[in-house]
Amino acid sequence: MKEILSKDNQKYAKECLNEALNIGLKFKLNNNFKEKKYTEQNFKELLKIPKKGTELKELLKNFEEDILPYCSNFSNENFMGFPDAGNSIAGISGALLTDFLQQNLINSSFCAPIATYMEIAVIKWLREIIGYEIKPINNIWDVGGIITYGGTGSNATAMLLARENFKKNTMKNGVKNPSNYKIVIPKGIGHYSIRSSSMWLGCGDNIIEVETENFRYNLEALEETLIKYRGKIMSVVAYVGDSRTMTIENLKAVYKLVKKIDSNIWLHADACHGFSLAFSKKLRQKIDGIECFDSISTDPHKVLTIPYCVSALLIKNPEKMKLITSTSDLIMQEDYAWGQITPFIGSKSWVSLKIWFMIKNIGIENIGKMIEERCEIAKKFADMIEKSDDFVLINDININSVVFMYVGSKKDILRNEDIEKLNKLNIKLHCKMMDKGIYHLHKFSLPDDRGVLKKGAIIHPLRYMSGNPNINTKNLENVLNYIRTLAGEIDE
Ligand SMILES: Cc1ncc(COP(=O)(O)O)c(C=O)c1O
Repeated sequence: MKEILSKDNQKYAKECLNEALNIGLKFKLNNNFKEKKYTEQNFKELLKIPKKGTELKELLKNFEEDILPYCSNFSNENFMGFPDAGNSIAGISGALLTDFLQQNLINSSFCAPIATYMEIAVIKWLREIIGYEIKPINNIWDVGGIITYGGTGSNATAMLLARENFKKNTMKNGVKNPSNYKIVIPKGIGHYSIRSSSMWLGCGDNIIEVETENFRYNLEALEETLIKYRGKIMSVVAYVGDSRTMTIENLKAVYKLVKKIDSNIWLHADACHGFSLAFSKKLRQKIDGIECFDSISTDPHKVLTIPYCVSALLIKNPEKMKLITSTSDLIMQEDYAWGQITPFIGSKSWVSLKIWFMIKNIGIENIGKMIEERCEIAKKFADMIEKSDDFVLINDININSVVFMYVGSKKDILRNEDIEKLNKLNIKLHCKMMDKGIYHLHKFSLPDDRGVLKKGAIIHPLRYMSGNPNINTKNLENVLNYIRTLAGEIDE
């Protein structure tokens, strides 16, 4: 069969794969972040089932012409809302090879012999970088981490560990009274994956949201909560870079407080973004205390310029993985079969190869420099905003998120500008921006915790997040001017 790779059609396969590669490169280096806007009308076309096949070269051509213009290009310099540029050449090489090599890490000996050890190595590197203790590894339960397909998967697995640690054998016996399995998160800034995990795990919607101050736990409110619900809290979650403002929690204080009140509570650090600071000697101190937490979620596909989807959940005490071990005669009962400790995952692709390539290629020291530059450019952008007459800065820059609002004139703010009016203006600006598809910034709702406009009011700011090393200060000046132009169009 021509469509199936064999020794007889190597030349044809190479031509097709080269073409796929060219399309990918051309796309990533395109000037706009999106060429065309997709509509529901086009969607109906897509639903038609292909009864007859299309020759691959023709299919690639059709794809390039008809599909690609509608794709969002996260590695474009005008794509500024998220840091996940996915443009490390080594990372992309790893991604290509992952799919080529088809190693299945569910089992080691016959499915993925060296891949298993390389995945263990990647986890060991991350543990070392983050500051967890490194012990000899003699089997899979000694590793102290697993690779998942995203921060959501890592958080869900962390909550499963928390649940089993809290009431042993819940996996076997089921959840008896869900309201006794509470999870504590900071109010208004948590990522939905924790609430969803609680529900996926049969613990219901029993999340307790604690008041915050400047996007961190209000420690008095946290203490009151811990005392009030003593014995009913399975986990406290802290953000090492929350999804909106990238504020780093007061890690040591939260650790001391939680463990003083109940040492059995599972302390989870969602460091999907913030673990990146551990690569830099200069920035590492910002996340000191993280190594005391029972588990840590990391998202290399967000912050290390690595393509989707790969995350690592690190566990302080590797032995705890025994709490969530799966046994089946379909998984080899061997020392290094990952399938024994990777809940929610069956066949397991070698996605950690992307991390392996990227870290080997750039090296820890230069990754550290890259992260430092990323934090610097976020500060520069915040500075531009502070110095401007028509934008206000909403957050302190802890890592790489710059949350801001267009206000027209700061003098109006001093005259007690109506927040609803500002919200509407920024929502309109964002809609217009999305519609035109030239620039991308993120937008969300957020409590004004710092009281920039009005303490506690719900605001709808815009957000730039540095991550793509190709974005420079000129690009950032341009986006501010672009917003001013859009604002002018709204006024008219
Ligand atoms: C703080 C935080 N945790 C978890 C997640 C979920 O990560 P993923 O999208 O990789 O599942 C996100 C996503 O933005 C996040 O910002």
